[in-house]
Amino acid sequence: MAPDSVTARAYGKVNLHLGVGDAREDGYHELTTVFQAVDLYEDVTLTRESSQRGTLGLTVESMFGDDVPTDASNLAWRGVELVREIAREHAARGAELLSEPDVGLRIEIAKGVPVAGGMAGGSADAAAAMTAAAEFFWPAQALPVAELRSRSVALGADVPFCLLGGTALGTGIGENLTPVLTRGRYHWVMVTNRKGLSTPQVFKKLDEQRGEVALGTRPEVRAGDPDPILKALGSGDPEQLAVHLANDLQAPAISLLPELRETLGIARQAGALNAIVSGSGPTVAVLCRDADHASEVLSNITGSARGVRAVLACSPAAGASVMSNN
Ligand code: C5P
Repeated sequence: MAPDSVTARAYGKVNLHLGVGDAREDGYHELTTVFQAVDLYEDVTLTRESSQRGTLGLTVESMFGDDVPTDASNLAWRGVELVREIAREHAARGAELLSEPDVGLRIEIAKGVPVAGGMAGGSADAAAAMTAAAEFFWPAQALPVAELRSRSVALGADVPFCLLGGTALGTGIGENLTPVLTRGRYHWVMVTNRKGLSTPQVFKKLDEQRGEVALGTRPEVRAGDPDPILKALGSGDPEQLAVHLANDLQAPAISLLPELRETLGIARQAGALNAIVSGSGPTVAVLCRDADHASEVLSNITGSARGVRAVLACSPAAGASVMSNN
């Protein structure tokens, strides 16, 4: 029996290590990255309307009050369409589905990850939407989990990780994932910025800066090998983790939004173990010793930087999962 309504949850991420290689022909860059899911999340609810067909509309409720598209360009909407396409292919091969591939579905998103922040909020929407949509077509024992994950990269480089969760080493454009065993939990203050940064622009800026390196007008800085951070994750010691945080996109993000340099400085002065731009930014991920230390650092940051928004977060968090299926 197909459900009437399904809610699925997917978490945002921080890249503990983000090494960016050269641009490929398709404009994407090869990455060597260590993703870790953090406990800020997106909930996507799909409600079935059997009298209608197709995706009927999308609403967004956001604790950050941001503008996100509510049409077919929204990543959650695209996630539902991708799952319908996979369902159609299965039906064509003779599989029995719980609903017609074009069953009427309405989408509601409750956002808890900053928008355009470098924390994969949009990718988490796609992952949660795919996870919820799959429940309308396949019974639990027949869910095509591996196929959903491998096809999800078509929606964005971070979507496969948002489906998987935990901690993973990512290569390719981020879609080849190897889960990483870690110890302990890590406590963060995530400092958001009202101005978003465009991911393609940050990668483009990095290419420009690397052009200057080739001309000898800028020193070469590369995140290098992820082994030290993987070792630190095995120790469970946040002080060790702090030493090895690295992000090749930090310099281009600062160049596009110079106030990030100040935010990073304020975070370090506030007593953090270290602070780093999350992914392509502009969210700054501030690593702390433990939960109490994170609360103290948060009040130091909000006390010294006016207009800054900061939230506590903890990692690692899980992958996308169904919260309710009625
Ligand atoms: O896949 P996603 O939509 O997150 O990527 C947004 C943009 O970021 C891409 O169009 C590309 O310009 C850049 N990008 C990249 N290399 C990656 C991931 C993203 O160049 N591995």
